[in-house]
Amino acid sequence: MSAGREAVALHNAERNALRRVVRCLFAEKIIDPAMLVFAPQGRSVWLPLWHRLALVYFEDLQVAPANTFINHGAITLIEHGGKRSAIVSAAQLIETLRECFDFAPSDEGVAGLKADMANSVANDALARLYREAWNGELREHIGVAGAWGLTDYLRRHSSTSAAAVLLDQWGSLEGHPFYPTWKSKPDLTPEQVAALSPEFNAKVPVRIAALRADNAYLERMPHVHSYHDWFAANFPTQWASWKAGLNARGLDETDWLPLPLHAWHLENFVRKEYAAEIEEGILILDGPDIETLPTMSFRTMLPQLPGTPPFIKLPVALWLTSEQRSLQAKSIHMGPRISAVIKRILAVEHGFDRMLDIFPEEVAFHYKHAVRQEDHPGRHLSVAFRNSREAFERSDGLLPITVAALLTGAPVSGRPLISELIERGGVRASRETVEAYFRQYARVVTRPVIAIYLLYGIALEAHQQNTSVLFDTDGAPKSLLIRDFGDGRTYTPLLNARGYELKPYVYPGILPTMFDGDIEPVRSFVVDACFVCHLHEVALLLTNEYELAPTRLWEILREETEGAFDAVAERVDPVLWQRERVAFLTQPWFTRSVLRMHLLKYADYRLQHQLPNPLAAAPSGN
Ligand SMILES: Nc1ncnc2c1ncn2[C@@H]1O[C@H](COP(=O)(O)OP(=O)(O)OP(=O)(O)O)[C@@H](O)[C@H]1O
Ligand SMILES: [Mg+2]
Repeated sequence: MSAGREAVALHNAERNALRRVVRCLFAEKIIDPAMLVFAPQGRSVWLPLWHRLALVYFEDLQVAPANTFINHGAITLIEHGGKRSAIVSAAQLIETLRECFDFAPSDEGVAGLKADMANSVANDALARLYREAWNGELREHIGVAGAWGLTDYLRRHSSTSAAAVLLDQWGSLEGHPFYPTWKSKPDLTPEQVAALSPEFNAKVPVRIAALRADNAYLERMPHVHSYHDWFAANFPTQWASWKAGLNARGLDETDWLPLPLHAWHLENFVRKEYAAEIEEGILILDGPDIETLPTMSFRTMLPQLPGTPPFIKLPVALWLTSEQRSLQAKSIHMGPRISAVIKRILAVEHGFDRMLDIFPEEVAFHYKHAVRQEDHPGRHLSVAFRNSREAFERSDGLLPITVAALLTGAPVSGRPLISELIERGGVRASRETVEAYFRQYARVVTRPVIAIYLLYGIALEAHQQNTSVLFDTDGAPKSLLIRDFGDGRTYTPLLNARGYELKPYVYPGILPTMFDGDIEPVRSFVVDACFVCHLHEVALLLTNEYELAPTRLWEILREETEGAFDAVAERVDPVLWQRERVAFLTQPWFTRSVLRMHLLKYADYRLQHQLPNPLAAAPSGN
């Protein structure tokens, strides 16, 4: 690897971090954007630092809807007396502006943020270097096949499941859209990051260990009668060798549960932290390995086995982006329960005009000591299995693509993959074509998400990583596939009114996910994931890529959101309908304050701020 390429990659990664910090500082109003002074023309902007009689000069700062400030150019500190110095790193910007923050972060908080940002930058640079080679390989395959792009090539040469998972891994390059610590994995060396992460096309072994069955809490969807039978049916080869291993020790397999363990977690955490359980004879770490592919969330793995095996979601005791990726009892209890309720609803609603399906979490369990009966120790010894068969064994020709992949540079054109779907190897699309495409996309996303929320009080966390959009052979978006229900929020009065019950998970110190008072936390979950982190991002990307009028796509999004409300109006209490419509379309959007939370060392995981509603600003068009 040449030093020149490395330096360029690092420089770009640093700019990526800077862009994210600028965006968060203004969106979260840590620095009030009202302080900015705009050039009469162009995109130059000054931020006065009154306390030191200095200015920060942004050469090219794009102002997009919803307080989205995107930095495209140089940032310079101009001090009293005229001295100029370039601000080239996110850490430098934080230091420069810290005095002007609307709160006083601790030195520790700032140091923690800087360390995680530096780690993200290093990992981002490595991922982009790897990407050059990976995209080169893909380009070659695409060329040899005579395909018009990556999706066309995958359609012709892979199964739906292989194509979907490759796109999911490949689509993990950009990471969360605006987290300043988007790729931080501070406990891993660069070699480990490459060996374990989806953006490096990694393969990771998962050990099938054994947990004594009386030391577990297990939750399953009603159609799963026995975990043993279910596991044996889904993983026949591993079941046979796991069983043989136990029998060779003189143990009866029915007294034990097959427990998958992520390779890193096994070696670096479980052996040490669960030494007492191993010693006590309730946890056996020997067992067969399954080769798996880590998907975009890093810790949900797809076994590389014939057919369509379930995804395996695992705890990994690593700090990734914003939290330690445990898999706590709440998710174990709620994942299968919410999956079961949604599946029943989808059957009754015909998948909301066949626009929605899910990856159901069929079985999940966590360690719970037979005598001590505490839930907490099980958060690092747990698993959730996510069925993929219905989603991947399809005959309708639709291809599921994880949303983040749509926003990733395609191997042939270097432009976002969504452009490939819009243009299908043809000429650059006209503005009208792109607007019509976005309208269809917005419809496919908003119809089912709004319907299940208004009718049943179920909030789908439809952000870029939890959502796959299904595309037909013409590249048109058709429907949604949602995953990840463990932390899903619900509003019980609405659910109950339609005759459905959901048992909540209640445990001291654990924040609730089912609400029956104010619906706001449930609504915010939808707005933040689906609108702020997903639809707004797609609109931003297409607006810039195709140089569309600055607010046009938000007008379209408004019309489509109105359409989604209209579609269920007759079935929803008019007071609720009106109130929610106002909230989605005109009131400020609530979203998680990711930078503030990080600076405050996550003392509170539910900090949020308001963004001006970009749908309110747009004329409704009718
Ligand atoms: N575009 C993206 N948007 C959101 N998260 C992303 C994105 N790309 C990668 N990620 C990563 O995916 C994870 C998202 O967290 P989330 O809690 O939704 O999922 P999870 O529970 O870890 O896994 P799963 O979705 O497989 O159940 C984080 O680790 C985050 O860094
Ligand atoms: Mg997720």
